[in-house]
Amino acid sequence: MRTPEGTLPDGNTRLYGVIGNPVSHSLSPTMHTAAFQSLSLNNVYLSFQFDSLDQALFKQAFNLIGICGFNITVPYKQEIIYFLDDISPQAKFLNSVNTVEIKDGRWIGHSTDGEGYIRSVEEFFPNLRDSSVQLLGAGGSAAAISYALLNAGVKKLMISNRTIGKAEKLVERLVQQFEPKRVEVGSYKKESYDLLVNTTSVGMDGESCPCSKELVEQAKIVSDIIYKPATTPLLKMAESMGKKIQNGLNMLIYQGAASFQIWTKQPAPVDVMKRVCKNQHYL
Ligand code: ATR
Repeated sequence: MRTPEGTLPDGNTRLYGVIGNPVSHSLSPTMHTAAFQSLSLNNVYLSFQFDSLDQALFKQAFNLIGICGFNITVPYKQEIIYFLDDISPQAKFLNSVNTVEIKDGRWIGHSTDGEGYIRSVEEFFPNLRDSSVQLLGAGGSAAAISYALLNAGVKKLMISNRTIGKAEKLVERLVQQFEPKRVEVGSYKKESYDLLVNTTSVGMDGESCPCSKELVEQAKIVSDIIYKPATTPLLKMAESMGKKIQNGLNMLIYQGAASFQIWTKQPAPVDVMKRVCKNQHYL
């Protein structure tokens, strides 16, 4: 029996998913399934763990099962680019894709990590535009967030990293897209600034802190993209100084919400997604 393109045999169930290795820890199936259910969409969201992306078979297999869109997690965010028919400017800049939209059989790659961060931070810091930001790190997450911060109108962005050369390379690439005086390598020296964001993995062990106490003191608000532990040593220190703090869970939820909107063309039920993620995360 043939079904309309991109649907399962009942004709209106659409199939979505996430690929990665490992994927069993991913909150995405819980989050998207709850979102579909709350809007009475009879869709399915599955995890696909691949040891490798077999270049001949992967795309053919996904097209055969009629998948309508999917997320990509570690380690395939770059490798997926090989399979795309088109890519958004931001994903191209980042050389990283976390969402594939399938439209008229064409695979289009997007990166929603930066948008996820901006939406989460604007919720607790509405004056992001024209603000000053210190960003720690120069890896994939740092690139997505720094691009999105500059795109959102941040006035001054300072980037520091353990390996300075990587921060310099990131800044070199950013100044090709944005006004050069808005971004530089380094740290605020004794001057106050608005937002400190940690994009490094330092703090996941629950013990280490990615920057000096002085740099935290100079910030008005502090965010960490780590969500496990929920309060990293950096956030604990900032909290003890009376600063507003935010961990990375809402970034994760909003990047999922952005994928949901790309696929369904309707706003995601963010409150439902937050509720299920928080329930599962803090079990
Ligand atoms: P992601 O995609 O999550 O950003 P990544 O691209 O591997 O991951 O980047 C990890 C970031 O954490 C980098 O900025 C890395 O610093 P280096 O460029 O010097 O490697 C930073 N990082 C990881 N472990 C660190 C540590 N122990 N101390 C300081 N920075 C660290």
